[in-house]
Formats: sequence, structure tokens, C-alpha cells
Amino acid sequence: MALADFLQQLDELAAAAATAFASAHDPAAVEAARVEFSGAKSGQLKTVQKQLGGVDKQDRRTAGMRFNEVKNQIDELHQAAVQRITSDPTEPLSRGGPYFDTTLPGKPHRVGHLHPITQSIEELKDLMGRLGFSVADGPEIEDEQHNFDSLNIPPEHPARDPLENFYLSTAQATGDGSLLLRSQTSTVQIRVMEKTPPPVRIISMGRVYRPDTADATHYPMFQQMEGLWIDKSVTMADLKTVLRLFATSYLGHDVHIRFRPSFFPFTEPSVEVDMSWGDDWIEFGGAGMVDPYVLESVGYDPEQVTGFAFGLGVERICMRRHSITDIREFYRNDIRFLHQF
Ligand code: PHE
Repeated sequence: MALADFLQQLDELAAAAATAFASAHDPAAVEAARVEFSGAKSGQLKTVQKQLGGVDKQDRRTAGMRFNEVKNQIDELHQAAVQRITSDPTEPLSRGGPYFDTTLPGKPHRVGHLHPITQSIEELKDLMGRLGFSVADGPEIEDEQHNFDSLNIPPEHPARDPLENFYLSTAQATGDGSLLLRSQTSTVQIRVMEKTPPPVRIISMGRVYRPDTADATHYPMFQQMEGLWIDKSVTMADLKTVLRLFATSYLGHDVHIRFRPSFFPFTEPSVEVDMSWGDDWIEFGGAGMVDPYVLESVGYDPEQVTGFAFGLGVERICMRRHSITDIREFYRNDIRFLHQF
């Protein structure tokens, strides 16, 4: 064999080895390259070495020296590759973690969404907005004046009992201006009327608090949607129409509304509101015509304007829509429940 041919083989081998070690990024690949080129039995170096004896005698020494150079070179390439995959910061192994295959599909992120109650609140605001109601807000920490007195609930009324409310100061239920977590959103009716002359057409959504024992239909904190419409000649018929339109739009099918006579100190007449559920009825709030006493106390003239108010349980409406049977599910924070909505 001519010397030139032998040397060319060695050059090609060196180049191939350089490429192979450079593209090895984990121990298995580096080892595979080592076996491929320097393997004792059938490595490529071995194959070339066997041809050394076929080189013309006078050139054999030159060929052998060059062979040793390339052999050392490949050993160095191997050492360098081992070094690189354990210390180069761009190599996965050097970051301490196990080797990972960047071509594998990624783990999908679970995209969150709004809580079903928040979704309902947004939707209810939207629906009521289309009926001309704007949104008003009030504080969750209330004074007795707005939670009771202005709503015609006198100091001796059982609804003011310390066992029925979350009072925040020790001077409870004494009518001296204690603070409490509001037990109803009707407080916002008063706050709006105090600072807005009629007409008003608002809803107010938010949390209310009552020390009820939690069961399938009660929770010590829940959400109400309060509605108030005061104008010239607003009637009970308007109330029923608004409630029916809103329930029908929210639930997506025709809903009937039933009024049962009831009593609230701040409405006269007062009703409990039921909506149809198949052949059954489910109560979802209270309502009535705002009591002239309340209108007067905020400076409205009951001879000039009338109006209705209603207070609905948001969880109940949401439960009705999704056929949820236990209110506690909303507040357990169980992602398997929540992600369904
Ligand atoms: N605030 C009453 C409640 O929490 C409901 C209600 C609101 C009744 C408005 C009449 C008018 O039970």
C-alpha cells in the first residue's frame, strides 16, 4: 500500500473522530464514540493499524509515527469530551440534573380560570347591565346603622342578635355603632340612596356573613346580588319581570318566578322569591317594594317615587345552573371540582 493512501485514511479517521466526539452530549454517546474509534476489538483505529503491515517497507516508520499521532489525538478527543459533558455549563449533565431529551414533547401547563362563583358574578353583572342596572359597591365591614337601623331593623330585632352576626367589637348589638361583617347586601341600597338622588337602578354583588353551620345549602359566608330600582311608578310587576328575565337569561331556558308573602322590615309588601325547577320550586332570595319609611330616611319623597329591592343568593343560582347539590363544594378548593366550570 502506498504511504499517501495510508496517511489519507488516517486523516479521514481523525476528522471523523473529531466530529463524533463533538456531537456526543451524554456519557452513552461519548462511550459509543470511544468504542467506534478506539475499541480494542473492532475499533476503526484497529482496522487501520492492521493495514500498517501492508505499507511499503521504507515508508513503514513514517506511517507508524503518523498512526501513533492520530491514536493519541483520538484519545485526547475522548478525554476532552468526557471533561466537557461534566463541566461545560451548556451541557445538560453539568447542571446537576439528569440528561434530558430536548426533542420530547413538553409537559402541558394547566391553564387556570376564574372560580365558578366569580364567573357567575361577572355574567350576572353583564345580564343586569343589559337591563339598565349599573354596579354599586359597599364595604364588607359595616356599621349597625347601615346593616340595621337605616333598614328599619330596630335594636330589639332578633336579626341583630350577637349569635346571628359576626360583630367585630365587644360592645355588640347595643345600637352604639358597633362594627360587624355585613349580614346582607341591602346595606348598599342605603349607601347608594344616601348619595344619589332618584332615579336609581343598581345591583351590588358581594360577600355576606352569618354564623350558620355549614351544610349542603348553607355556608357562613356567601354571595348576594342586591338589586334596587327607584323611579316614578315602579311596581311589583316590574320586579317580577326583571327577575324572570334575568333568571331565564342566566339559566338559558324559560324560568317561572313565584312570589310568596313574607316580611322584611325594609320592604312593604315583602316576598320570598322562588324559581321553577322542573315540577318543583327553589327559593333563591327575598324582595319587595322599598318601605316608604326607608325612602324618607334617605331623603326621598315616597309620594314621588317608588321602587323595588331584591336580594338573591348567587351560589344558589349558580348551583341551579350547574346542578351542584352542595354549596360547600365552592369553597373546598378542590381543583378536581373547580376545573369543571
Ligand atoms: N336582605 C334580605 C336578606 O338577606 C333580602 C332582601 C333584599 C329582601 C332586598 C328584600 C329586599 O335576606
